[in-house]
Amino acid sequence: MTETQIKILEAQFEARIANDEKIEPKDWMPEKYRKTHIRQMSQHAHSEIIGMLPEGNWISRAPSLRRKVALLAKVQDEAGHGLYLYSACETLGITREELYEQLHSGKAKYSSIFNYPTITWADIGAIGWLVDGAAIINQVPLCNTSFGPYACAMVRVCKEESFHQRQGYEIMLTLCKGTVEQKAMAQDALNRWWWPALMMLGPTDDQSVHTAQSMKWKLKRKTNDELRQQFIDQTVPQADILGIKIPDSDLKWNADKGSYDFGEIDWDEFWQVVKGHGPCNKQRMKARVSAWENGAWVRDAAMAYAEKNK
Ligand code: 3HC
Repeated sequence: MTETQIKILEAQFEARIANDEKIEPKDWMPEKYRKTHIRQMSQHAHSEIIGMLPEGNWISRAPSLRRKVALLAKVQDEAGHGLYLYSACETLGITREELYEQLHSGKAKYSSIFNYPTITWADIGAIGWLVDGAAIINQVPLCNTSFGPYACAMVRVCKEESFHQRQGYEIMLTLCKGTVEQKAMAQDALNRWWWPALMMLGPTDDQSVHTAQSMKWKLKRKTNDELRQQFIDQTVPQADILGIKIPDSDLKWNADKGSYDFGEIDWDEFWQVVKGHGPCNKQRMKARVSAWENGAWVRDAAMAYAEKNK
C-alpha cells in the first residue's frame, strides 16, 4: 500500500472516531490502535481471571449459605467477564494461547489490586464495595468505547458488576451493624483496601503513558484522575453511612471544587506491586500457571472431540 493510500485510510479512520462510530474487527484500523486494544483488553481479561483467586479463597469459608451462593455467583461472573474480553481480543488476531503465554511469562500485566491478601471475611465485603465499585466507575465509560466488541462486552459486565458492588456493600453494612469485633473487622478491611483501590485506576494523568492517545481514539472516555476523583466522591458518603473511617487524614470536602481533596498516594508501593513485588504476586501467578498446566488434558480432549465431530 502506498503512503498516500495509508494517509487516506488514516484520515477516514480519524473521521469515523470523531463521528463516534464503532470500529469493528474487520474495519481498517491503525496498527497502533489494534495493538493498544489488545494490550488493554487482554490485561483487563487477565485481571478478571486473577481476581477470582482472592475471593475464591473464601467460598468454602463463607459465614452462611446465602453468602456462599452470592460469592460463588460473583466469582463465576468474573470468569465470564474474562472470557468475553479474551474473545474480544481474539477478534484482533491474537490467539488465546498467546494471551495466556503473555500473562504467564509476565509480559502482560493484570490489575495491581489483586495482589493483596484476603485476610478476613470483611475483605470480601471491601472488595465488592471498593474494588467492584471502582471497576464500575472505570467500566461504565468503556461501554461507549470506540471498539465495538469491547463496548458490547462492557454493557453485560457492568450489569453484573452492580450486583457485585451491592453484595459487597451489604456485607460491610451487616458487619458494621454487628458486634464491636465485626465492625472493627470492617474498619480493618477498609484500612487495607482503600489505598490499593485508588491505585487500581492507574497512575496520575501526568504519569500515564497511554491516556492521551487512548482519549484521542475514544478507547478511554475519562482519564485515570477523573475516574479516581469520581470514585472517591461516590465512596466517602457510603463510608459515612457504614460509620467507618476512610484511612486518609487529608480527606476533606472542597466546596469550591465540589469534590474531596485527598492525601498523597504511595506510587512507590503501586509500581512495586505492578513490577511483581506485591504481597501475593508470586502466589497468584503460581496458581494461574498450575491451573493452565493441570487443565491441558481438558483442552486437548475438547479439541480432539471437536476435531472428531467436525
Ligand atoms: N495494575 C497494573 N498495571 C497498571 C495499573 C494497575 N492498576 N494501572 C496502570 N497500569 C499499567 C498500564 O497497563 C501501563 O502498562 P503497559 O503499558 O505495560 O500496559 C502502565 O501502567 C501505564 O498506565 P496507563 O495509565 O498509561 O495505562 P492505561 O491507559 O492502560 O490505564 C487502566 C490503566 C485505567 C487500568 C486502563 O488500562 C483500563 O481502564 N483498563 C480497563 C479496566 C481494567 O483493566 N480494570 C482492571 C481491574 S479488572 C476489575 O476491576 C474486575 C472487577 O470485576 C473487580
